[in-house]
Amino acid sequence: MRFRPHRYLSFFVISLCSWPLFAEPIKVAEPKSTQMAAVAMPDLYSAKVAKQILFAGGNAVDAAVAAGFVLAVTYPEAGNLGGGGFMTLYTPTLQSDDTDTLAVQFLDYREKAPKAAFRDLYLDQDKQVIPYRSLVGYQASGVPGTVMGFWQAHQRFGSLPWQQLLQPAIEYAEQGFRVSQAIEDRAKWFQGWIVDKTTMPLNFMDYFGSLKANTLFKQPELALTLERIAKQGASDFYQGKTAQLLVDEMQAHNGLITLDDLNRYQAKWREPVVGEWLGRQVVSAPPPSSGGVAIVQLLKLKQLLAPQLQVALAQAKKDGIPEQVVKTHFYAELEKRVYADRAHFLGDPDFIKVPIKTLISSDYLKQRSQSILLDDISDSEKVRHGKLESPETTHFSIMDGQGNAVSNTYTLNMPFGSGVVIPGAGFLMNDEMDDFSKKPGVANVFGVVGGKANEIAPEKRMLSSMSPTILLKDGQLEMVVGTPGGSTIITSVFQTIVNVVEEGMSAQQAVDATRVHHQLLPVNQIAYNPELPEDVKDGLQMMGYHLKKNNYMGDVQIITHINGQWQAASDKRGVGVSDVFEVKSRE
Ligand code: GLY
Repeated sequence: MRFRPHRYLSFFVISLCSWPLFAEPIKVAEPKSTQMAAVAMPDLYSAKVAKQILFAGGNAVDAAVAAGFVLAVTYPEAGNLGGGGFMTLYTPTLQSDDTDTLAVQFLDYREKAPKAAFRDLYLDQDKQVIPYRSLVGYQASGVPGTVMGFWQAHQRFGSLPWQQLLQPAIEYAEQGFRVSQAIEDRAKWFQGWIVDKTTMPLNFMDYFGSLKANTLFKQPELALTLERIAKQGASDFYQGKTAQLLVDEMQAHNGLITLDDLNRYQAKWREPVVGEWLGRQVVSAPPPSSGGVAIVQLLKLKQLLAPQLQVALAQAKKDGIPEQVVKTHFYAELEKRVYADRAHFLGDPDFIKVPIKTLISSDYLKQRSQSILLDDISDSEKVRHGKLESPETTHFSIMDGQGNAVSNTYTLNMPFGSGVVIPGAGFLMNDEMDDFSKKPGVANVFGVVGGKANEIAPEKRMLSSMSPTILLKDGQLEMVVGTPGGSTIITSVFQTIVNVVEEGMSAQQAVDATRVHHQLLPVNQIAYNPELPEDVKDGLQMMGYHLKKNNYMGDVQIITHINGQWQAASDKRGVGVSDVFEVKSRE
């Protein structure tokens, strides 16, 4: 559990001055008994608000909605109104029907390509990709889904009033929040990065140029937008004044999003990917995310090759080779095949048929596992898809006292998205269009390639790696987990699950452990967290791998049940806050 009392205390002092809790008292039934709840959140503001909502009798979805809007204010690089995301839910006590025996749900509120988008949108006359056009500026944004996603989640499962859930975010926008060094640093980095990426002037600095550590940062225009959304619901964002402000700004700068695009946007309830693994159900994100399929493939391939791995580990021990060299190589071999499948098969299921069941079936994975070498690197050129017979994103995990859970990952794509702020509305737009395959074989900002399945089309959703995941064991909640990190999301979630379930680590050890990442391309490159031991690096280099240090690579937020107790943990690489606590049951 990563609970930082000093941060919490200083926040509490600040909040006493700046945040009158809830304007109207929340009416809740008399408590009957106490039960455990937990949060694992990317910043202390969202942690504080999620806990308050749970203490007030709200359920996990209420807490997720309130925290999601708070992060749009206090975590502007990734928390958002102008982006999109995915929510995986476990709702055993919130079901209105009993048709879904696993009580799992998935809400896709990913951005969509505007209707004006087309396959070669980002190519010049010579069919070459125009650098950065899908990443920076007015043509980089998909139609945002976050407000609709939270609205639809609340409509179906929320128990506290919508307006009440937006109140904390409004207060933070109006009265300010204390900026962390991390936010100031990222804003400075972004400001430097965008300078030469477009000739079109961007207004990022007008809005976020004054982000300075340890000062209060107020966002009055965003506060008004949140107030309108609180009063009018999602219709303000998609049909009302906020929609008009967004479209005016797009039209003034040759942007693509129209009022019709906003009017037509809907989030979608989809069937989550459910994979059987070691007596558990791994419930995760289906397409248009590649995350659920990839994570289940990795876990099942690992299980299929467990005997061979044991032999290789025993041999390495005899030869004096560090265990982590063998495991990292093994993971890279699995990942080569999984990312090859990702590039070929995965895309928006409303546009292409994704053979999910086959891709995660044991028969298919047995066939995929056959070419894996435990003692040598297989040739990346020859690893193709199987034959069939962001980095800034943010994640949070919440469990309420009734055992309902939300695993939510949402994003603007790059930190601070496209660098475009909607004047009068005060929120940043995403640059999610970069997640489409702009041209077959040309990598996106995360270095992953794609093909036809993920080419641009009007109203299509771009492929994602976001993987909000839930594990069930014996039909009971066991884990709620996820992370930001673009294409490294998949491998970070995979390694964290393995760390807890197979390596016997505590929640905190599991999220803090060194992670490694391979994604087929660049050829034989392994990215690693800085603390990877020298002898492991030497061993991997001797095998022929190229190593790339990645200081960030994830900010995992986990809640998990270990040896009869709940644990929650926030990754040491971020500024998250997690806690397990008792709440009163009102059943
Ligand atoms: N924008 C990063 C992702 O969705 O995977």
